[in-house]
Amino acid sequence: MEFSTVLRRRRMVRAFSDRPVDDAVLRRLLRAAQRAPSAGHTQPLELVVVRDPAVRRELSLASWSRGARPEAGALTVVFCGDLAREAERYGARGAGKYLYMDVGYAALLFMLSAVDAGLACAFIGDFHEEHVQAALGLPPRIVPVGMVIVGHGDEAPRPRPWRPVREIVHYERYSPAYDWSGRNLPPRREVAGGG
Ligand SMILES: Cc1cc2nc3c(=O)[nH]c(=O)nc-3n(C[C@H](O)[C@H](O)[C@H](O)COP(=O)(O)O)c2cc1C
Repeated sequence: MEFSTVLRRRRMVRAFSDRPVDDAVLRRLLRAAQRAPSAGHTQPLELVVVRDPAVRRELSLASWSRGARPEAGALTVVFCGDLAREAERYGARGAGKYLYMDVGYAALLFMLSAVDAGLACAFIGDFHEEHVQAALGLPPRIVPVGMVIVGHGDEAPRPRPWRPVREIVHYERYSPAYDWSGRNLPPRREVAGGG
């Protein structure tokens, strides 16, 4: 499928037929997720594939999501990040910003690959982290960032409005520019050799 078509077709789909997801296709999607960039190639990604209805029910109990439900579709992939791997390398920045970015990129690659394979999925971020950790037996350092439900879609999501591009894209400086001259910023660092 053309990349532009994948981008256009990617929507969160919350209703699915009973058709199962082929194992070989699923493995392809999981490998695509692994190809995501990570800060310093830390590779914090940990994935839990859940097909067992009893475990999916537990995931559902842990989620407040009123749209997509963790039991919908053929299976749920829980996208997790290893907090210790990121924090050892990057401290608080790793534990906060980088962990969620790295795992989020992986989830997006997974979802785009699912669209490319003719499947549908939805991302669920609305859940109690510790309940999900308990349901899956995750150690405390493995943080669940999102769940992706996958299957053969059985709905056409309604078109949704987009903010105009001219409202969100700023060239050279933000407009209207905020004046930072009165603030005490930390000294700027020179980085030898660039990069
Ligand atoms: C960080 C994040 C968390 C989300 N959590 C949920 C969720 O808990 N339940 C749900 O139904 N959709 C969830 N979504 C899906 C968004 O609601 C959806 O992406 C948005 O409405 C735009 O629709 P589209 O993805 O079809 O373009 C989440 C999306 C993101 C990026």
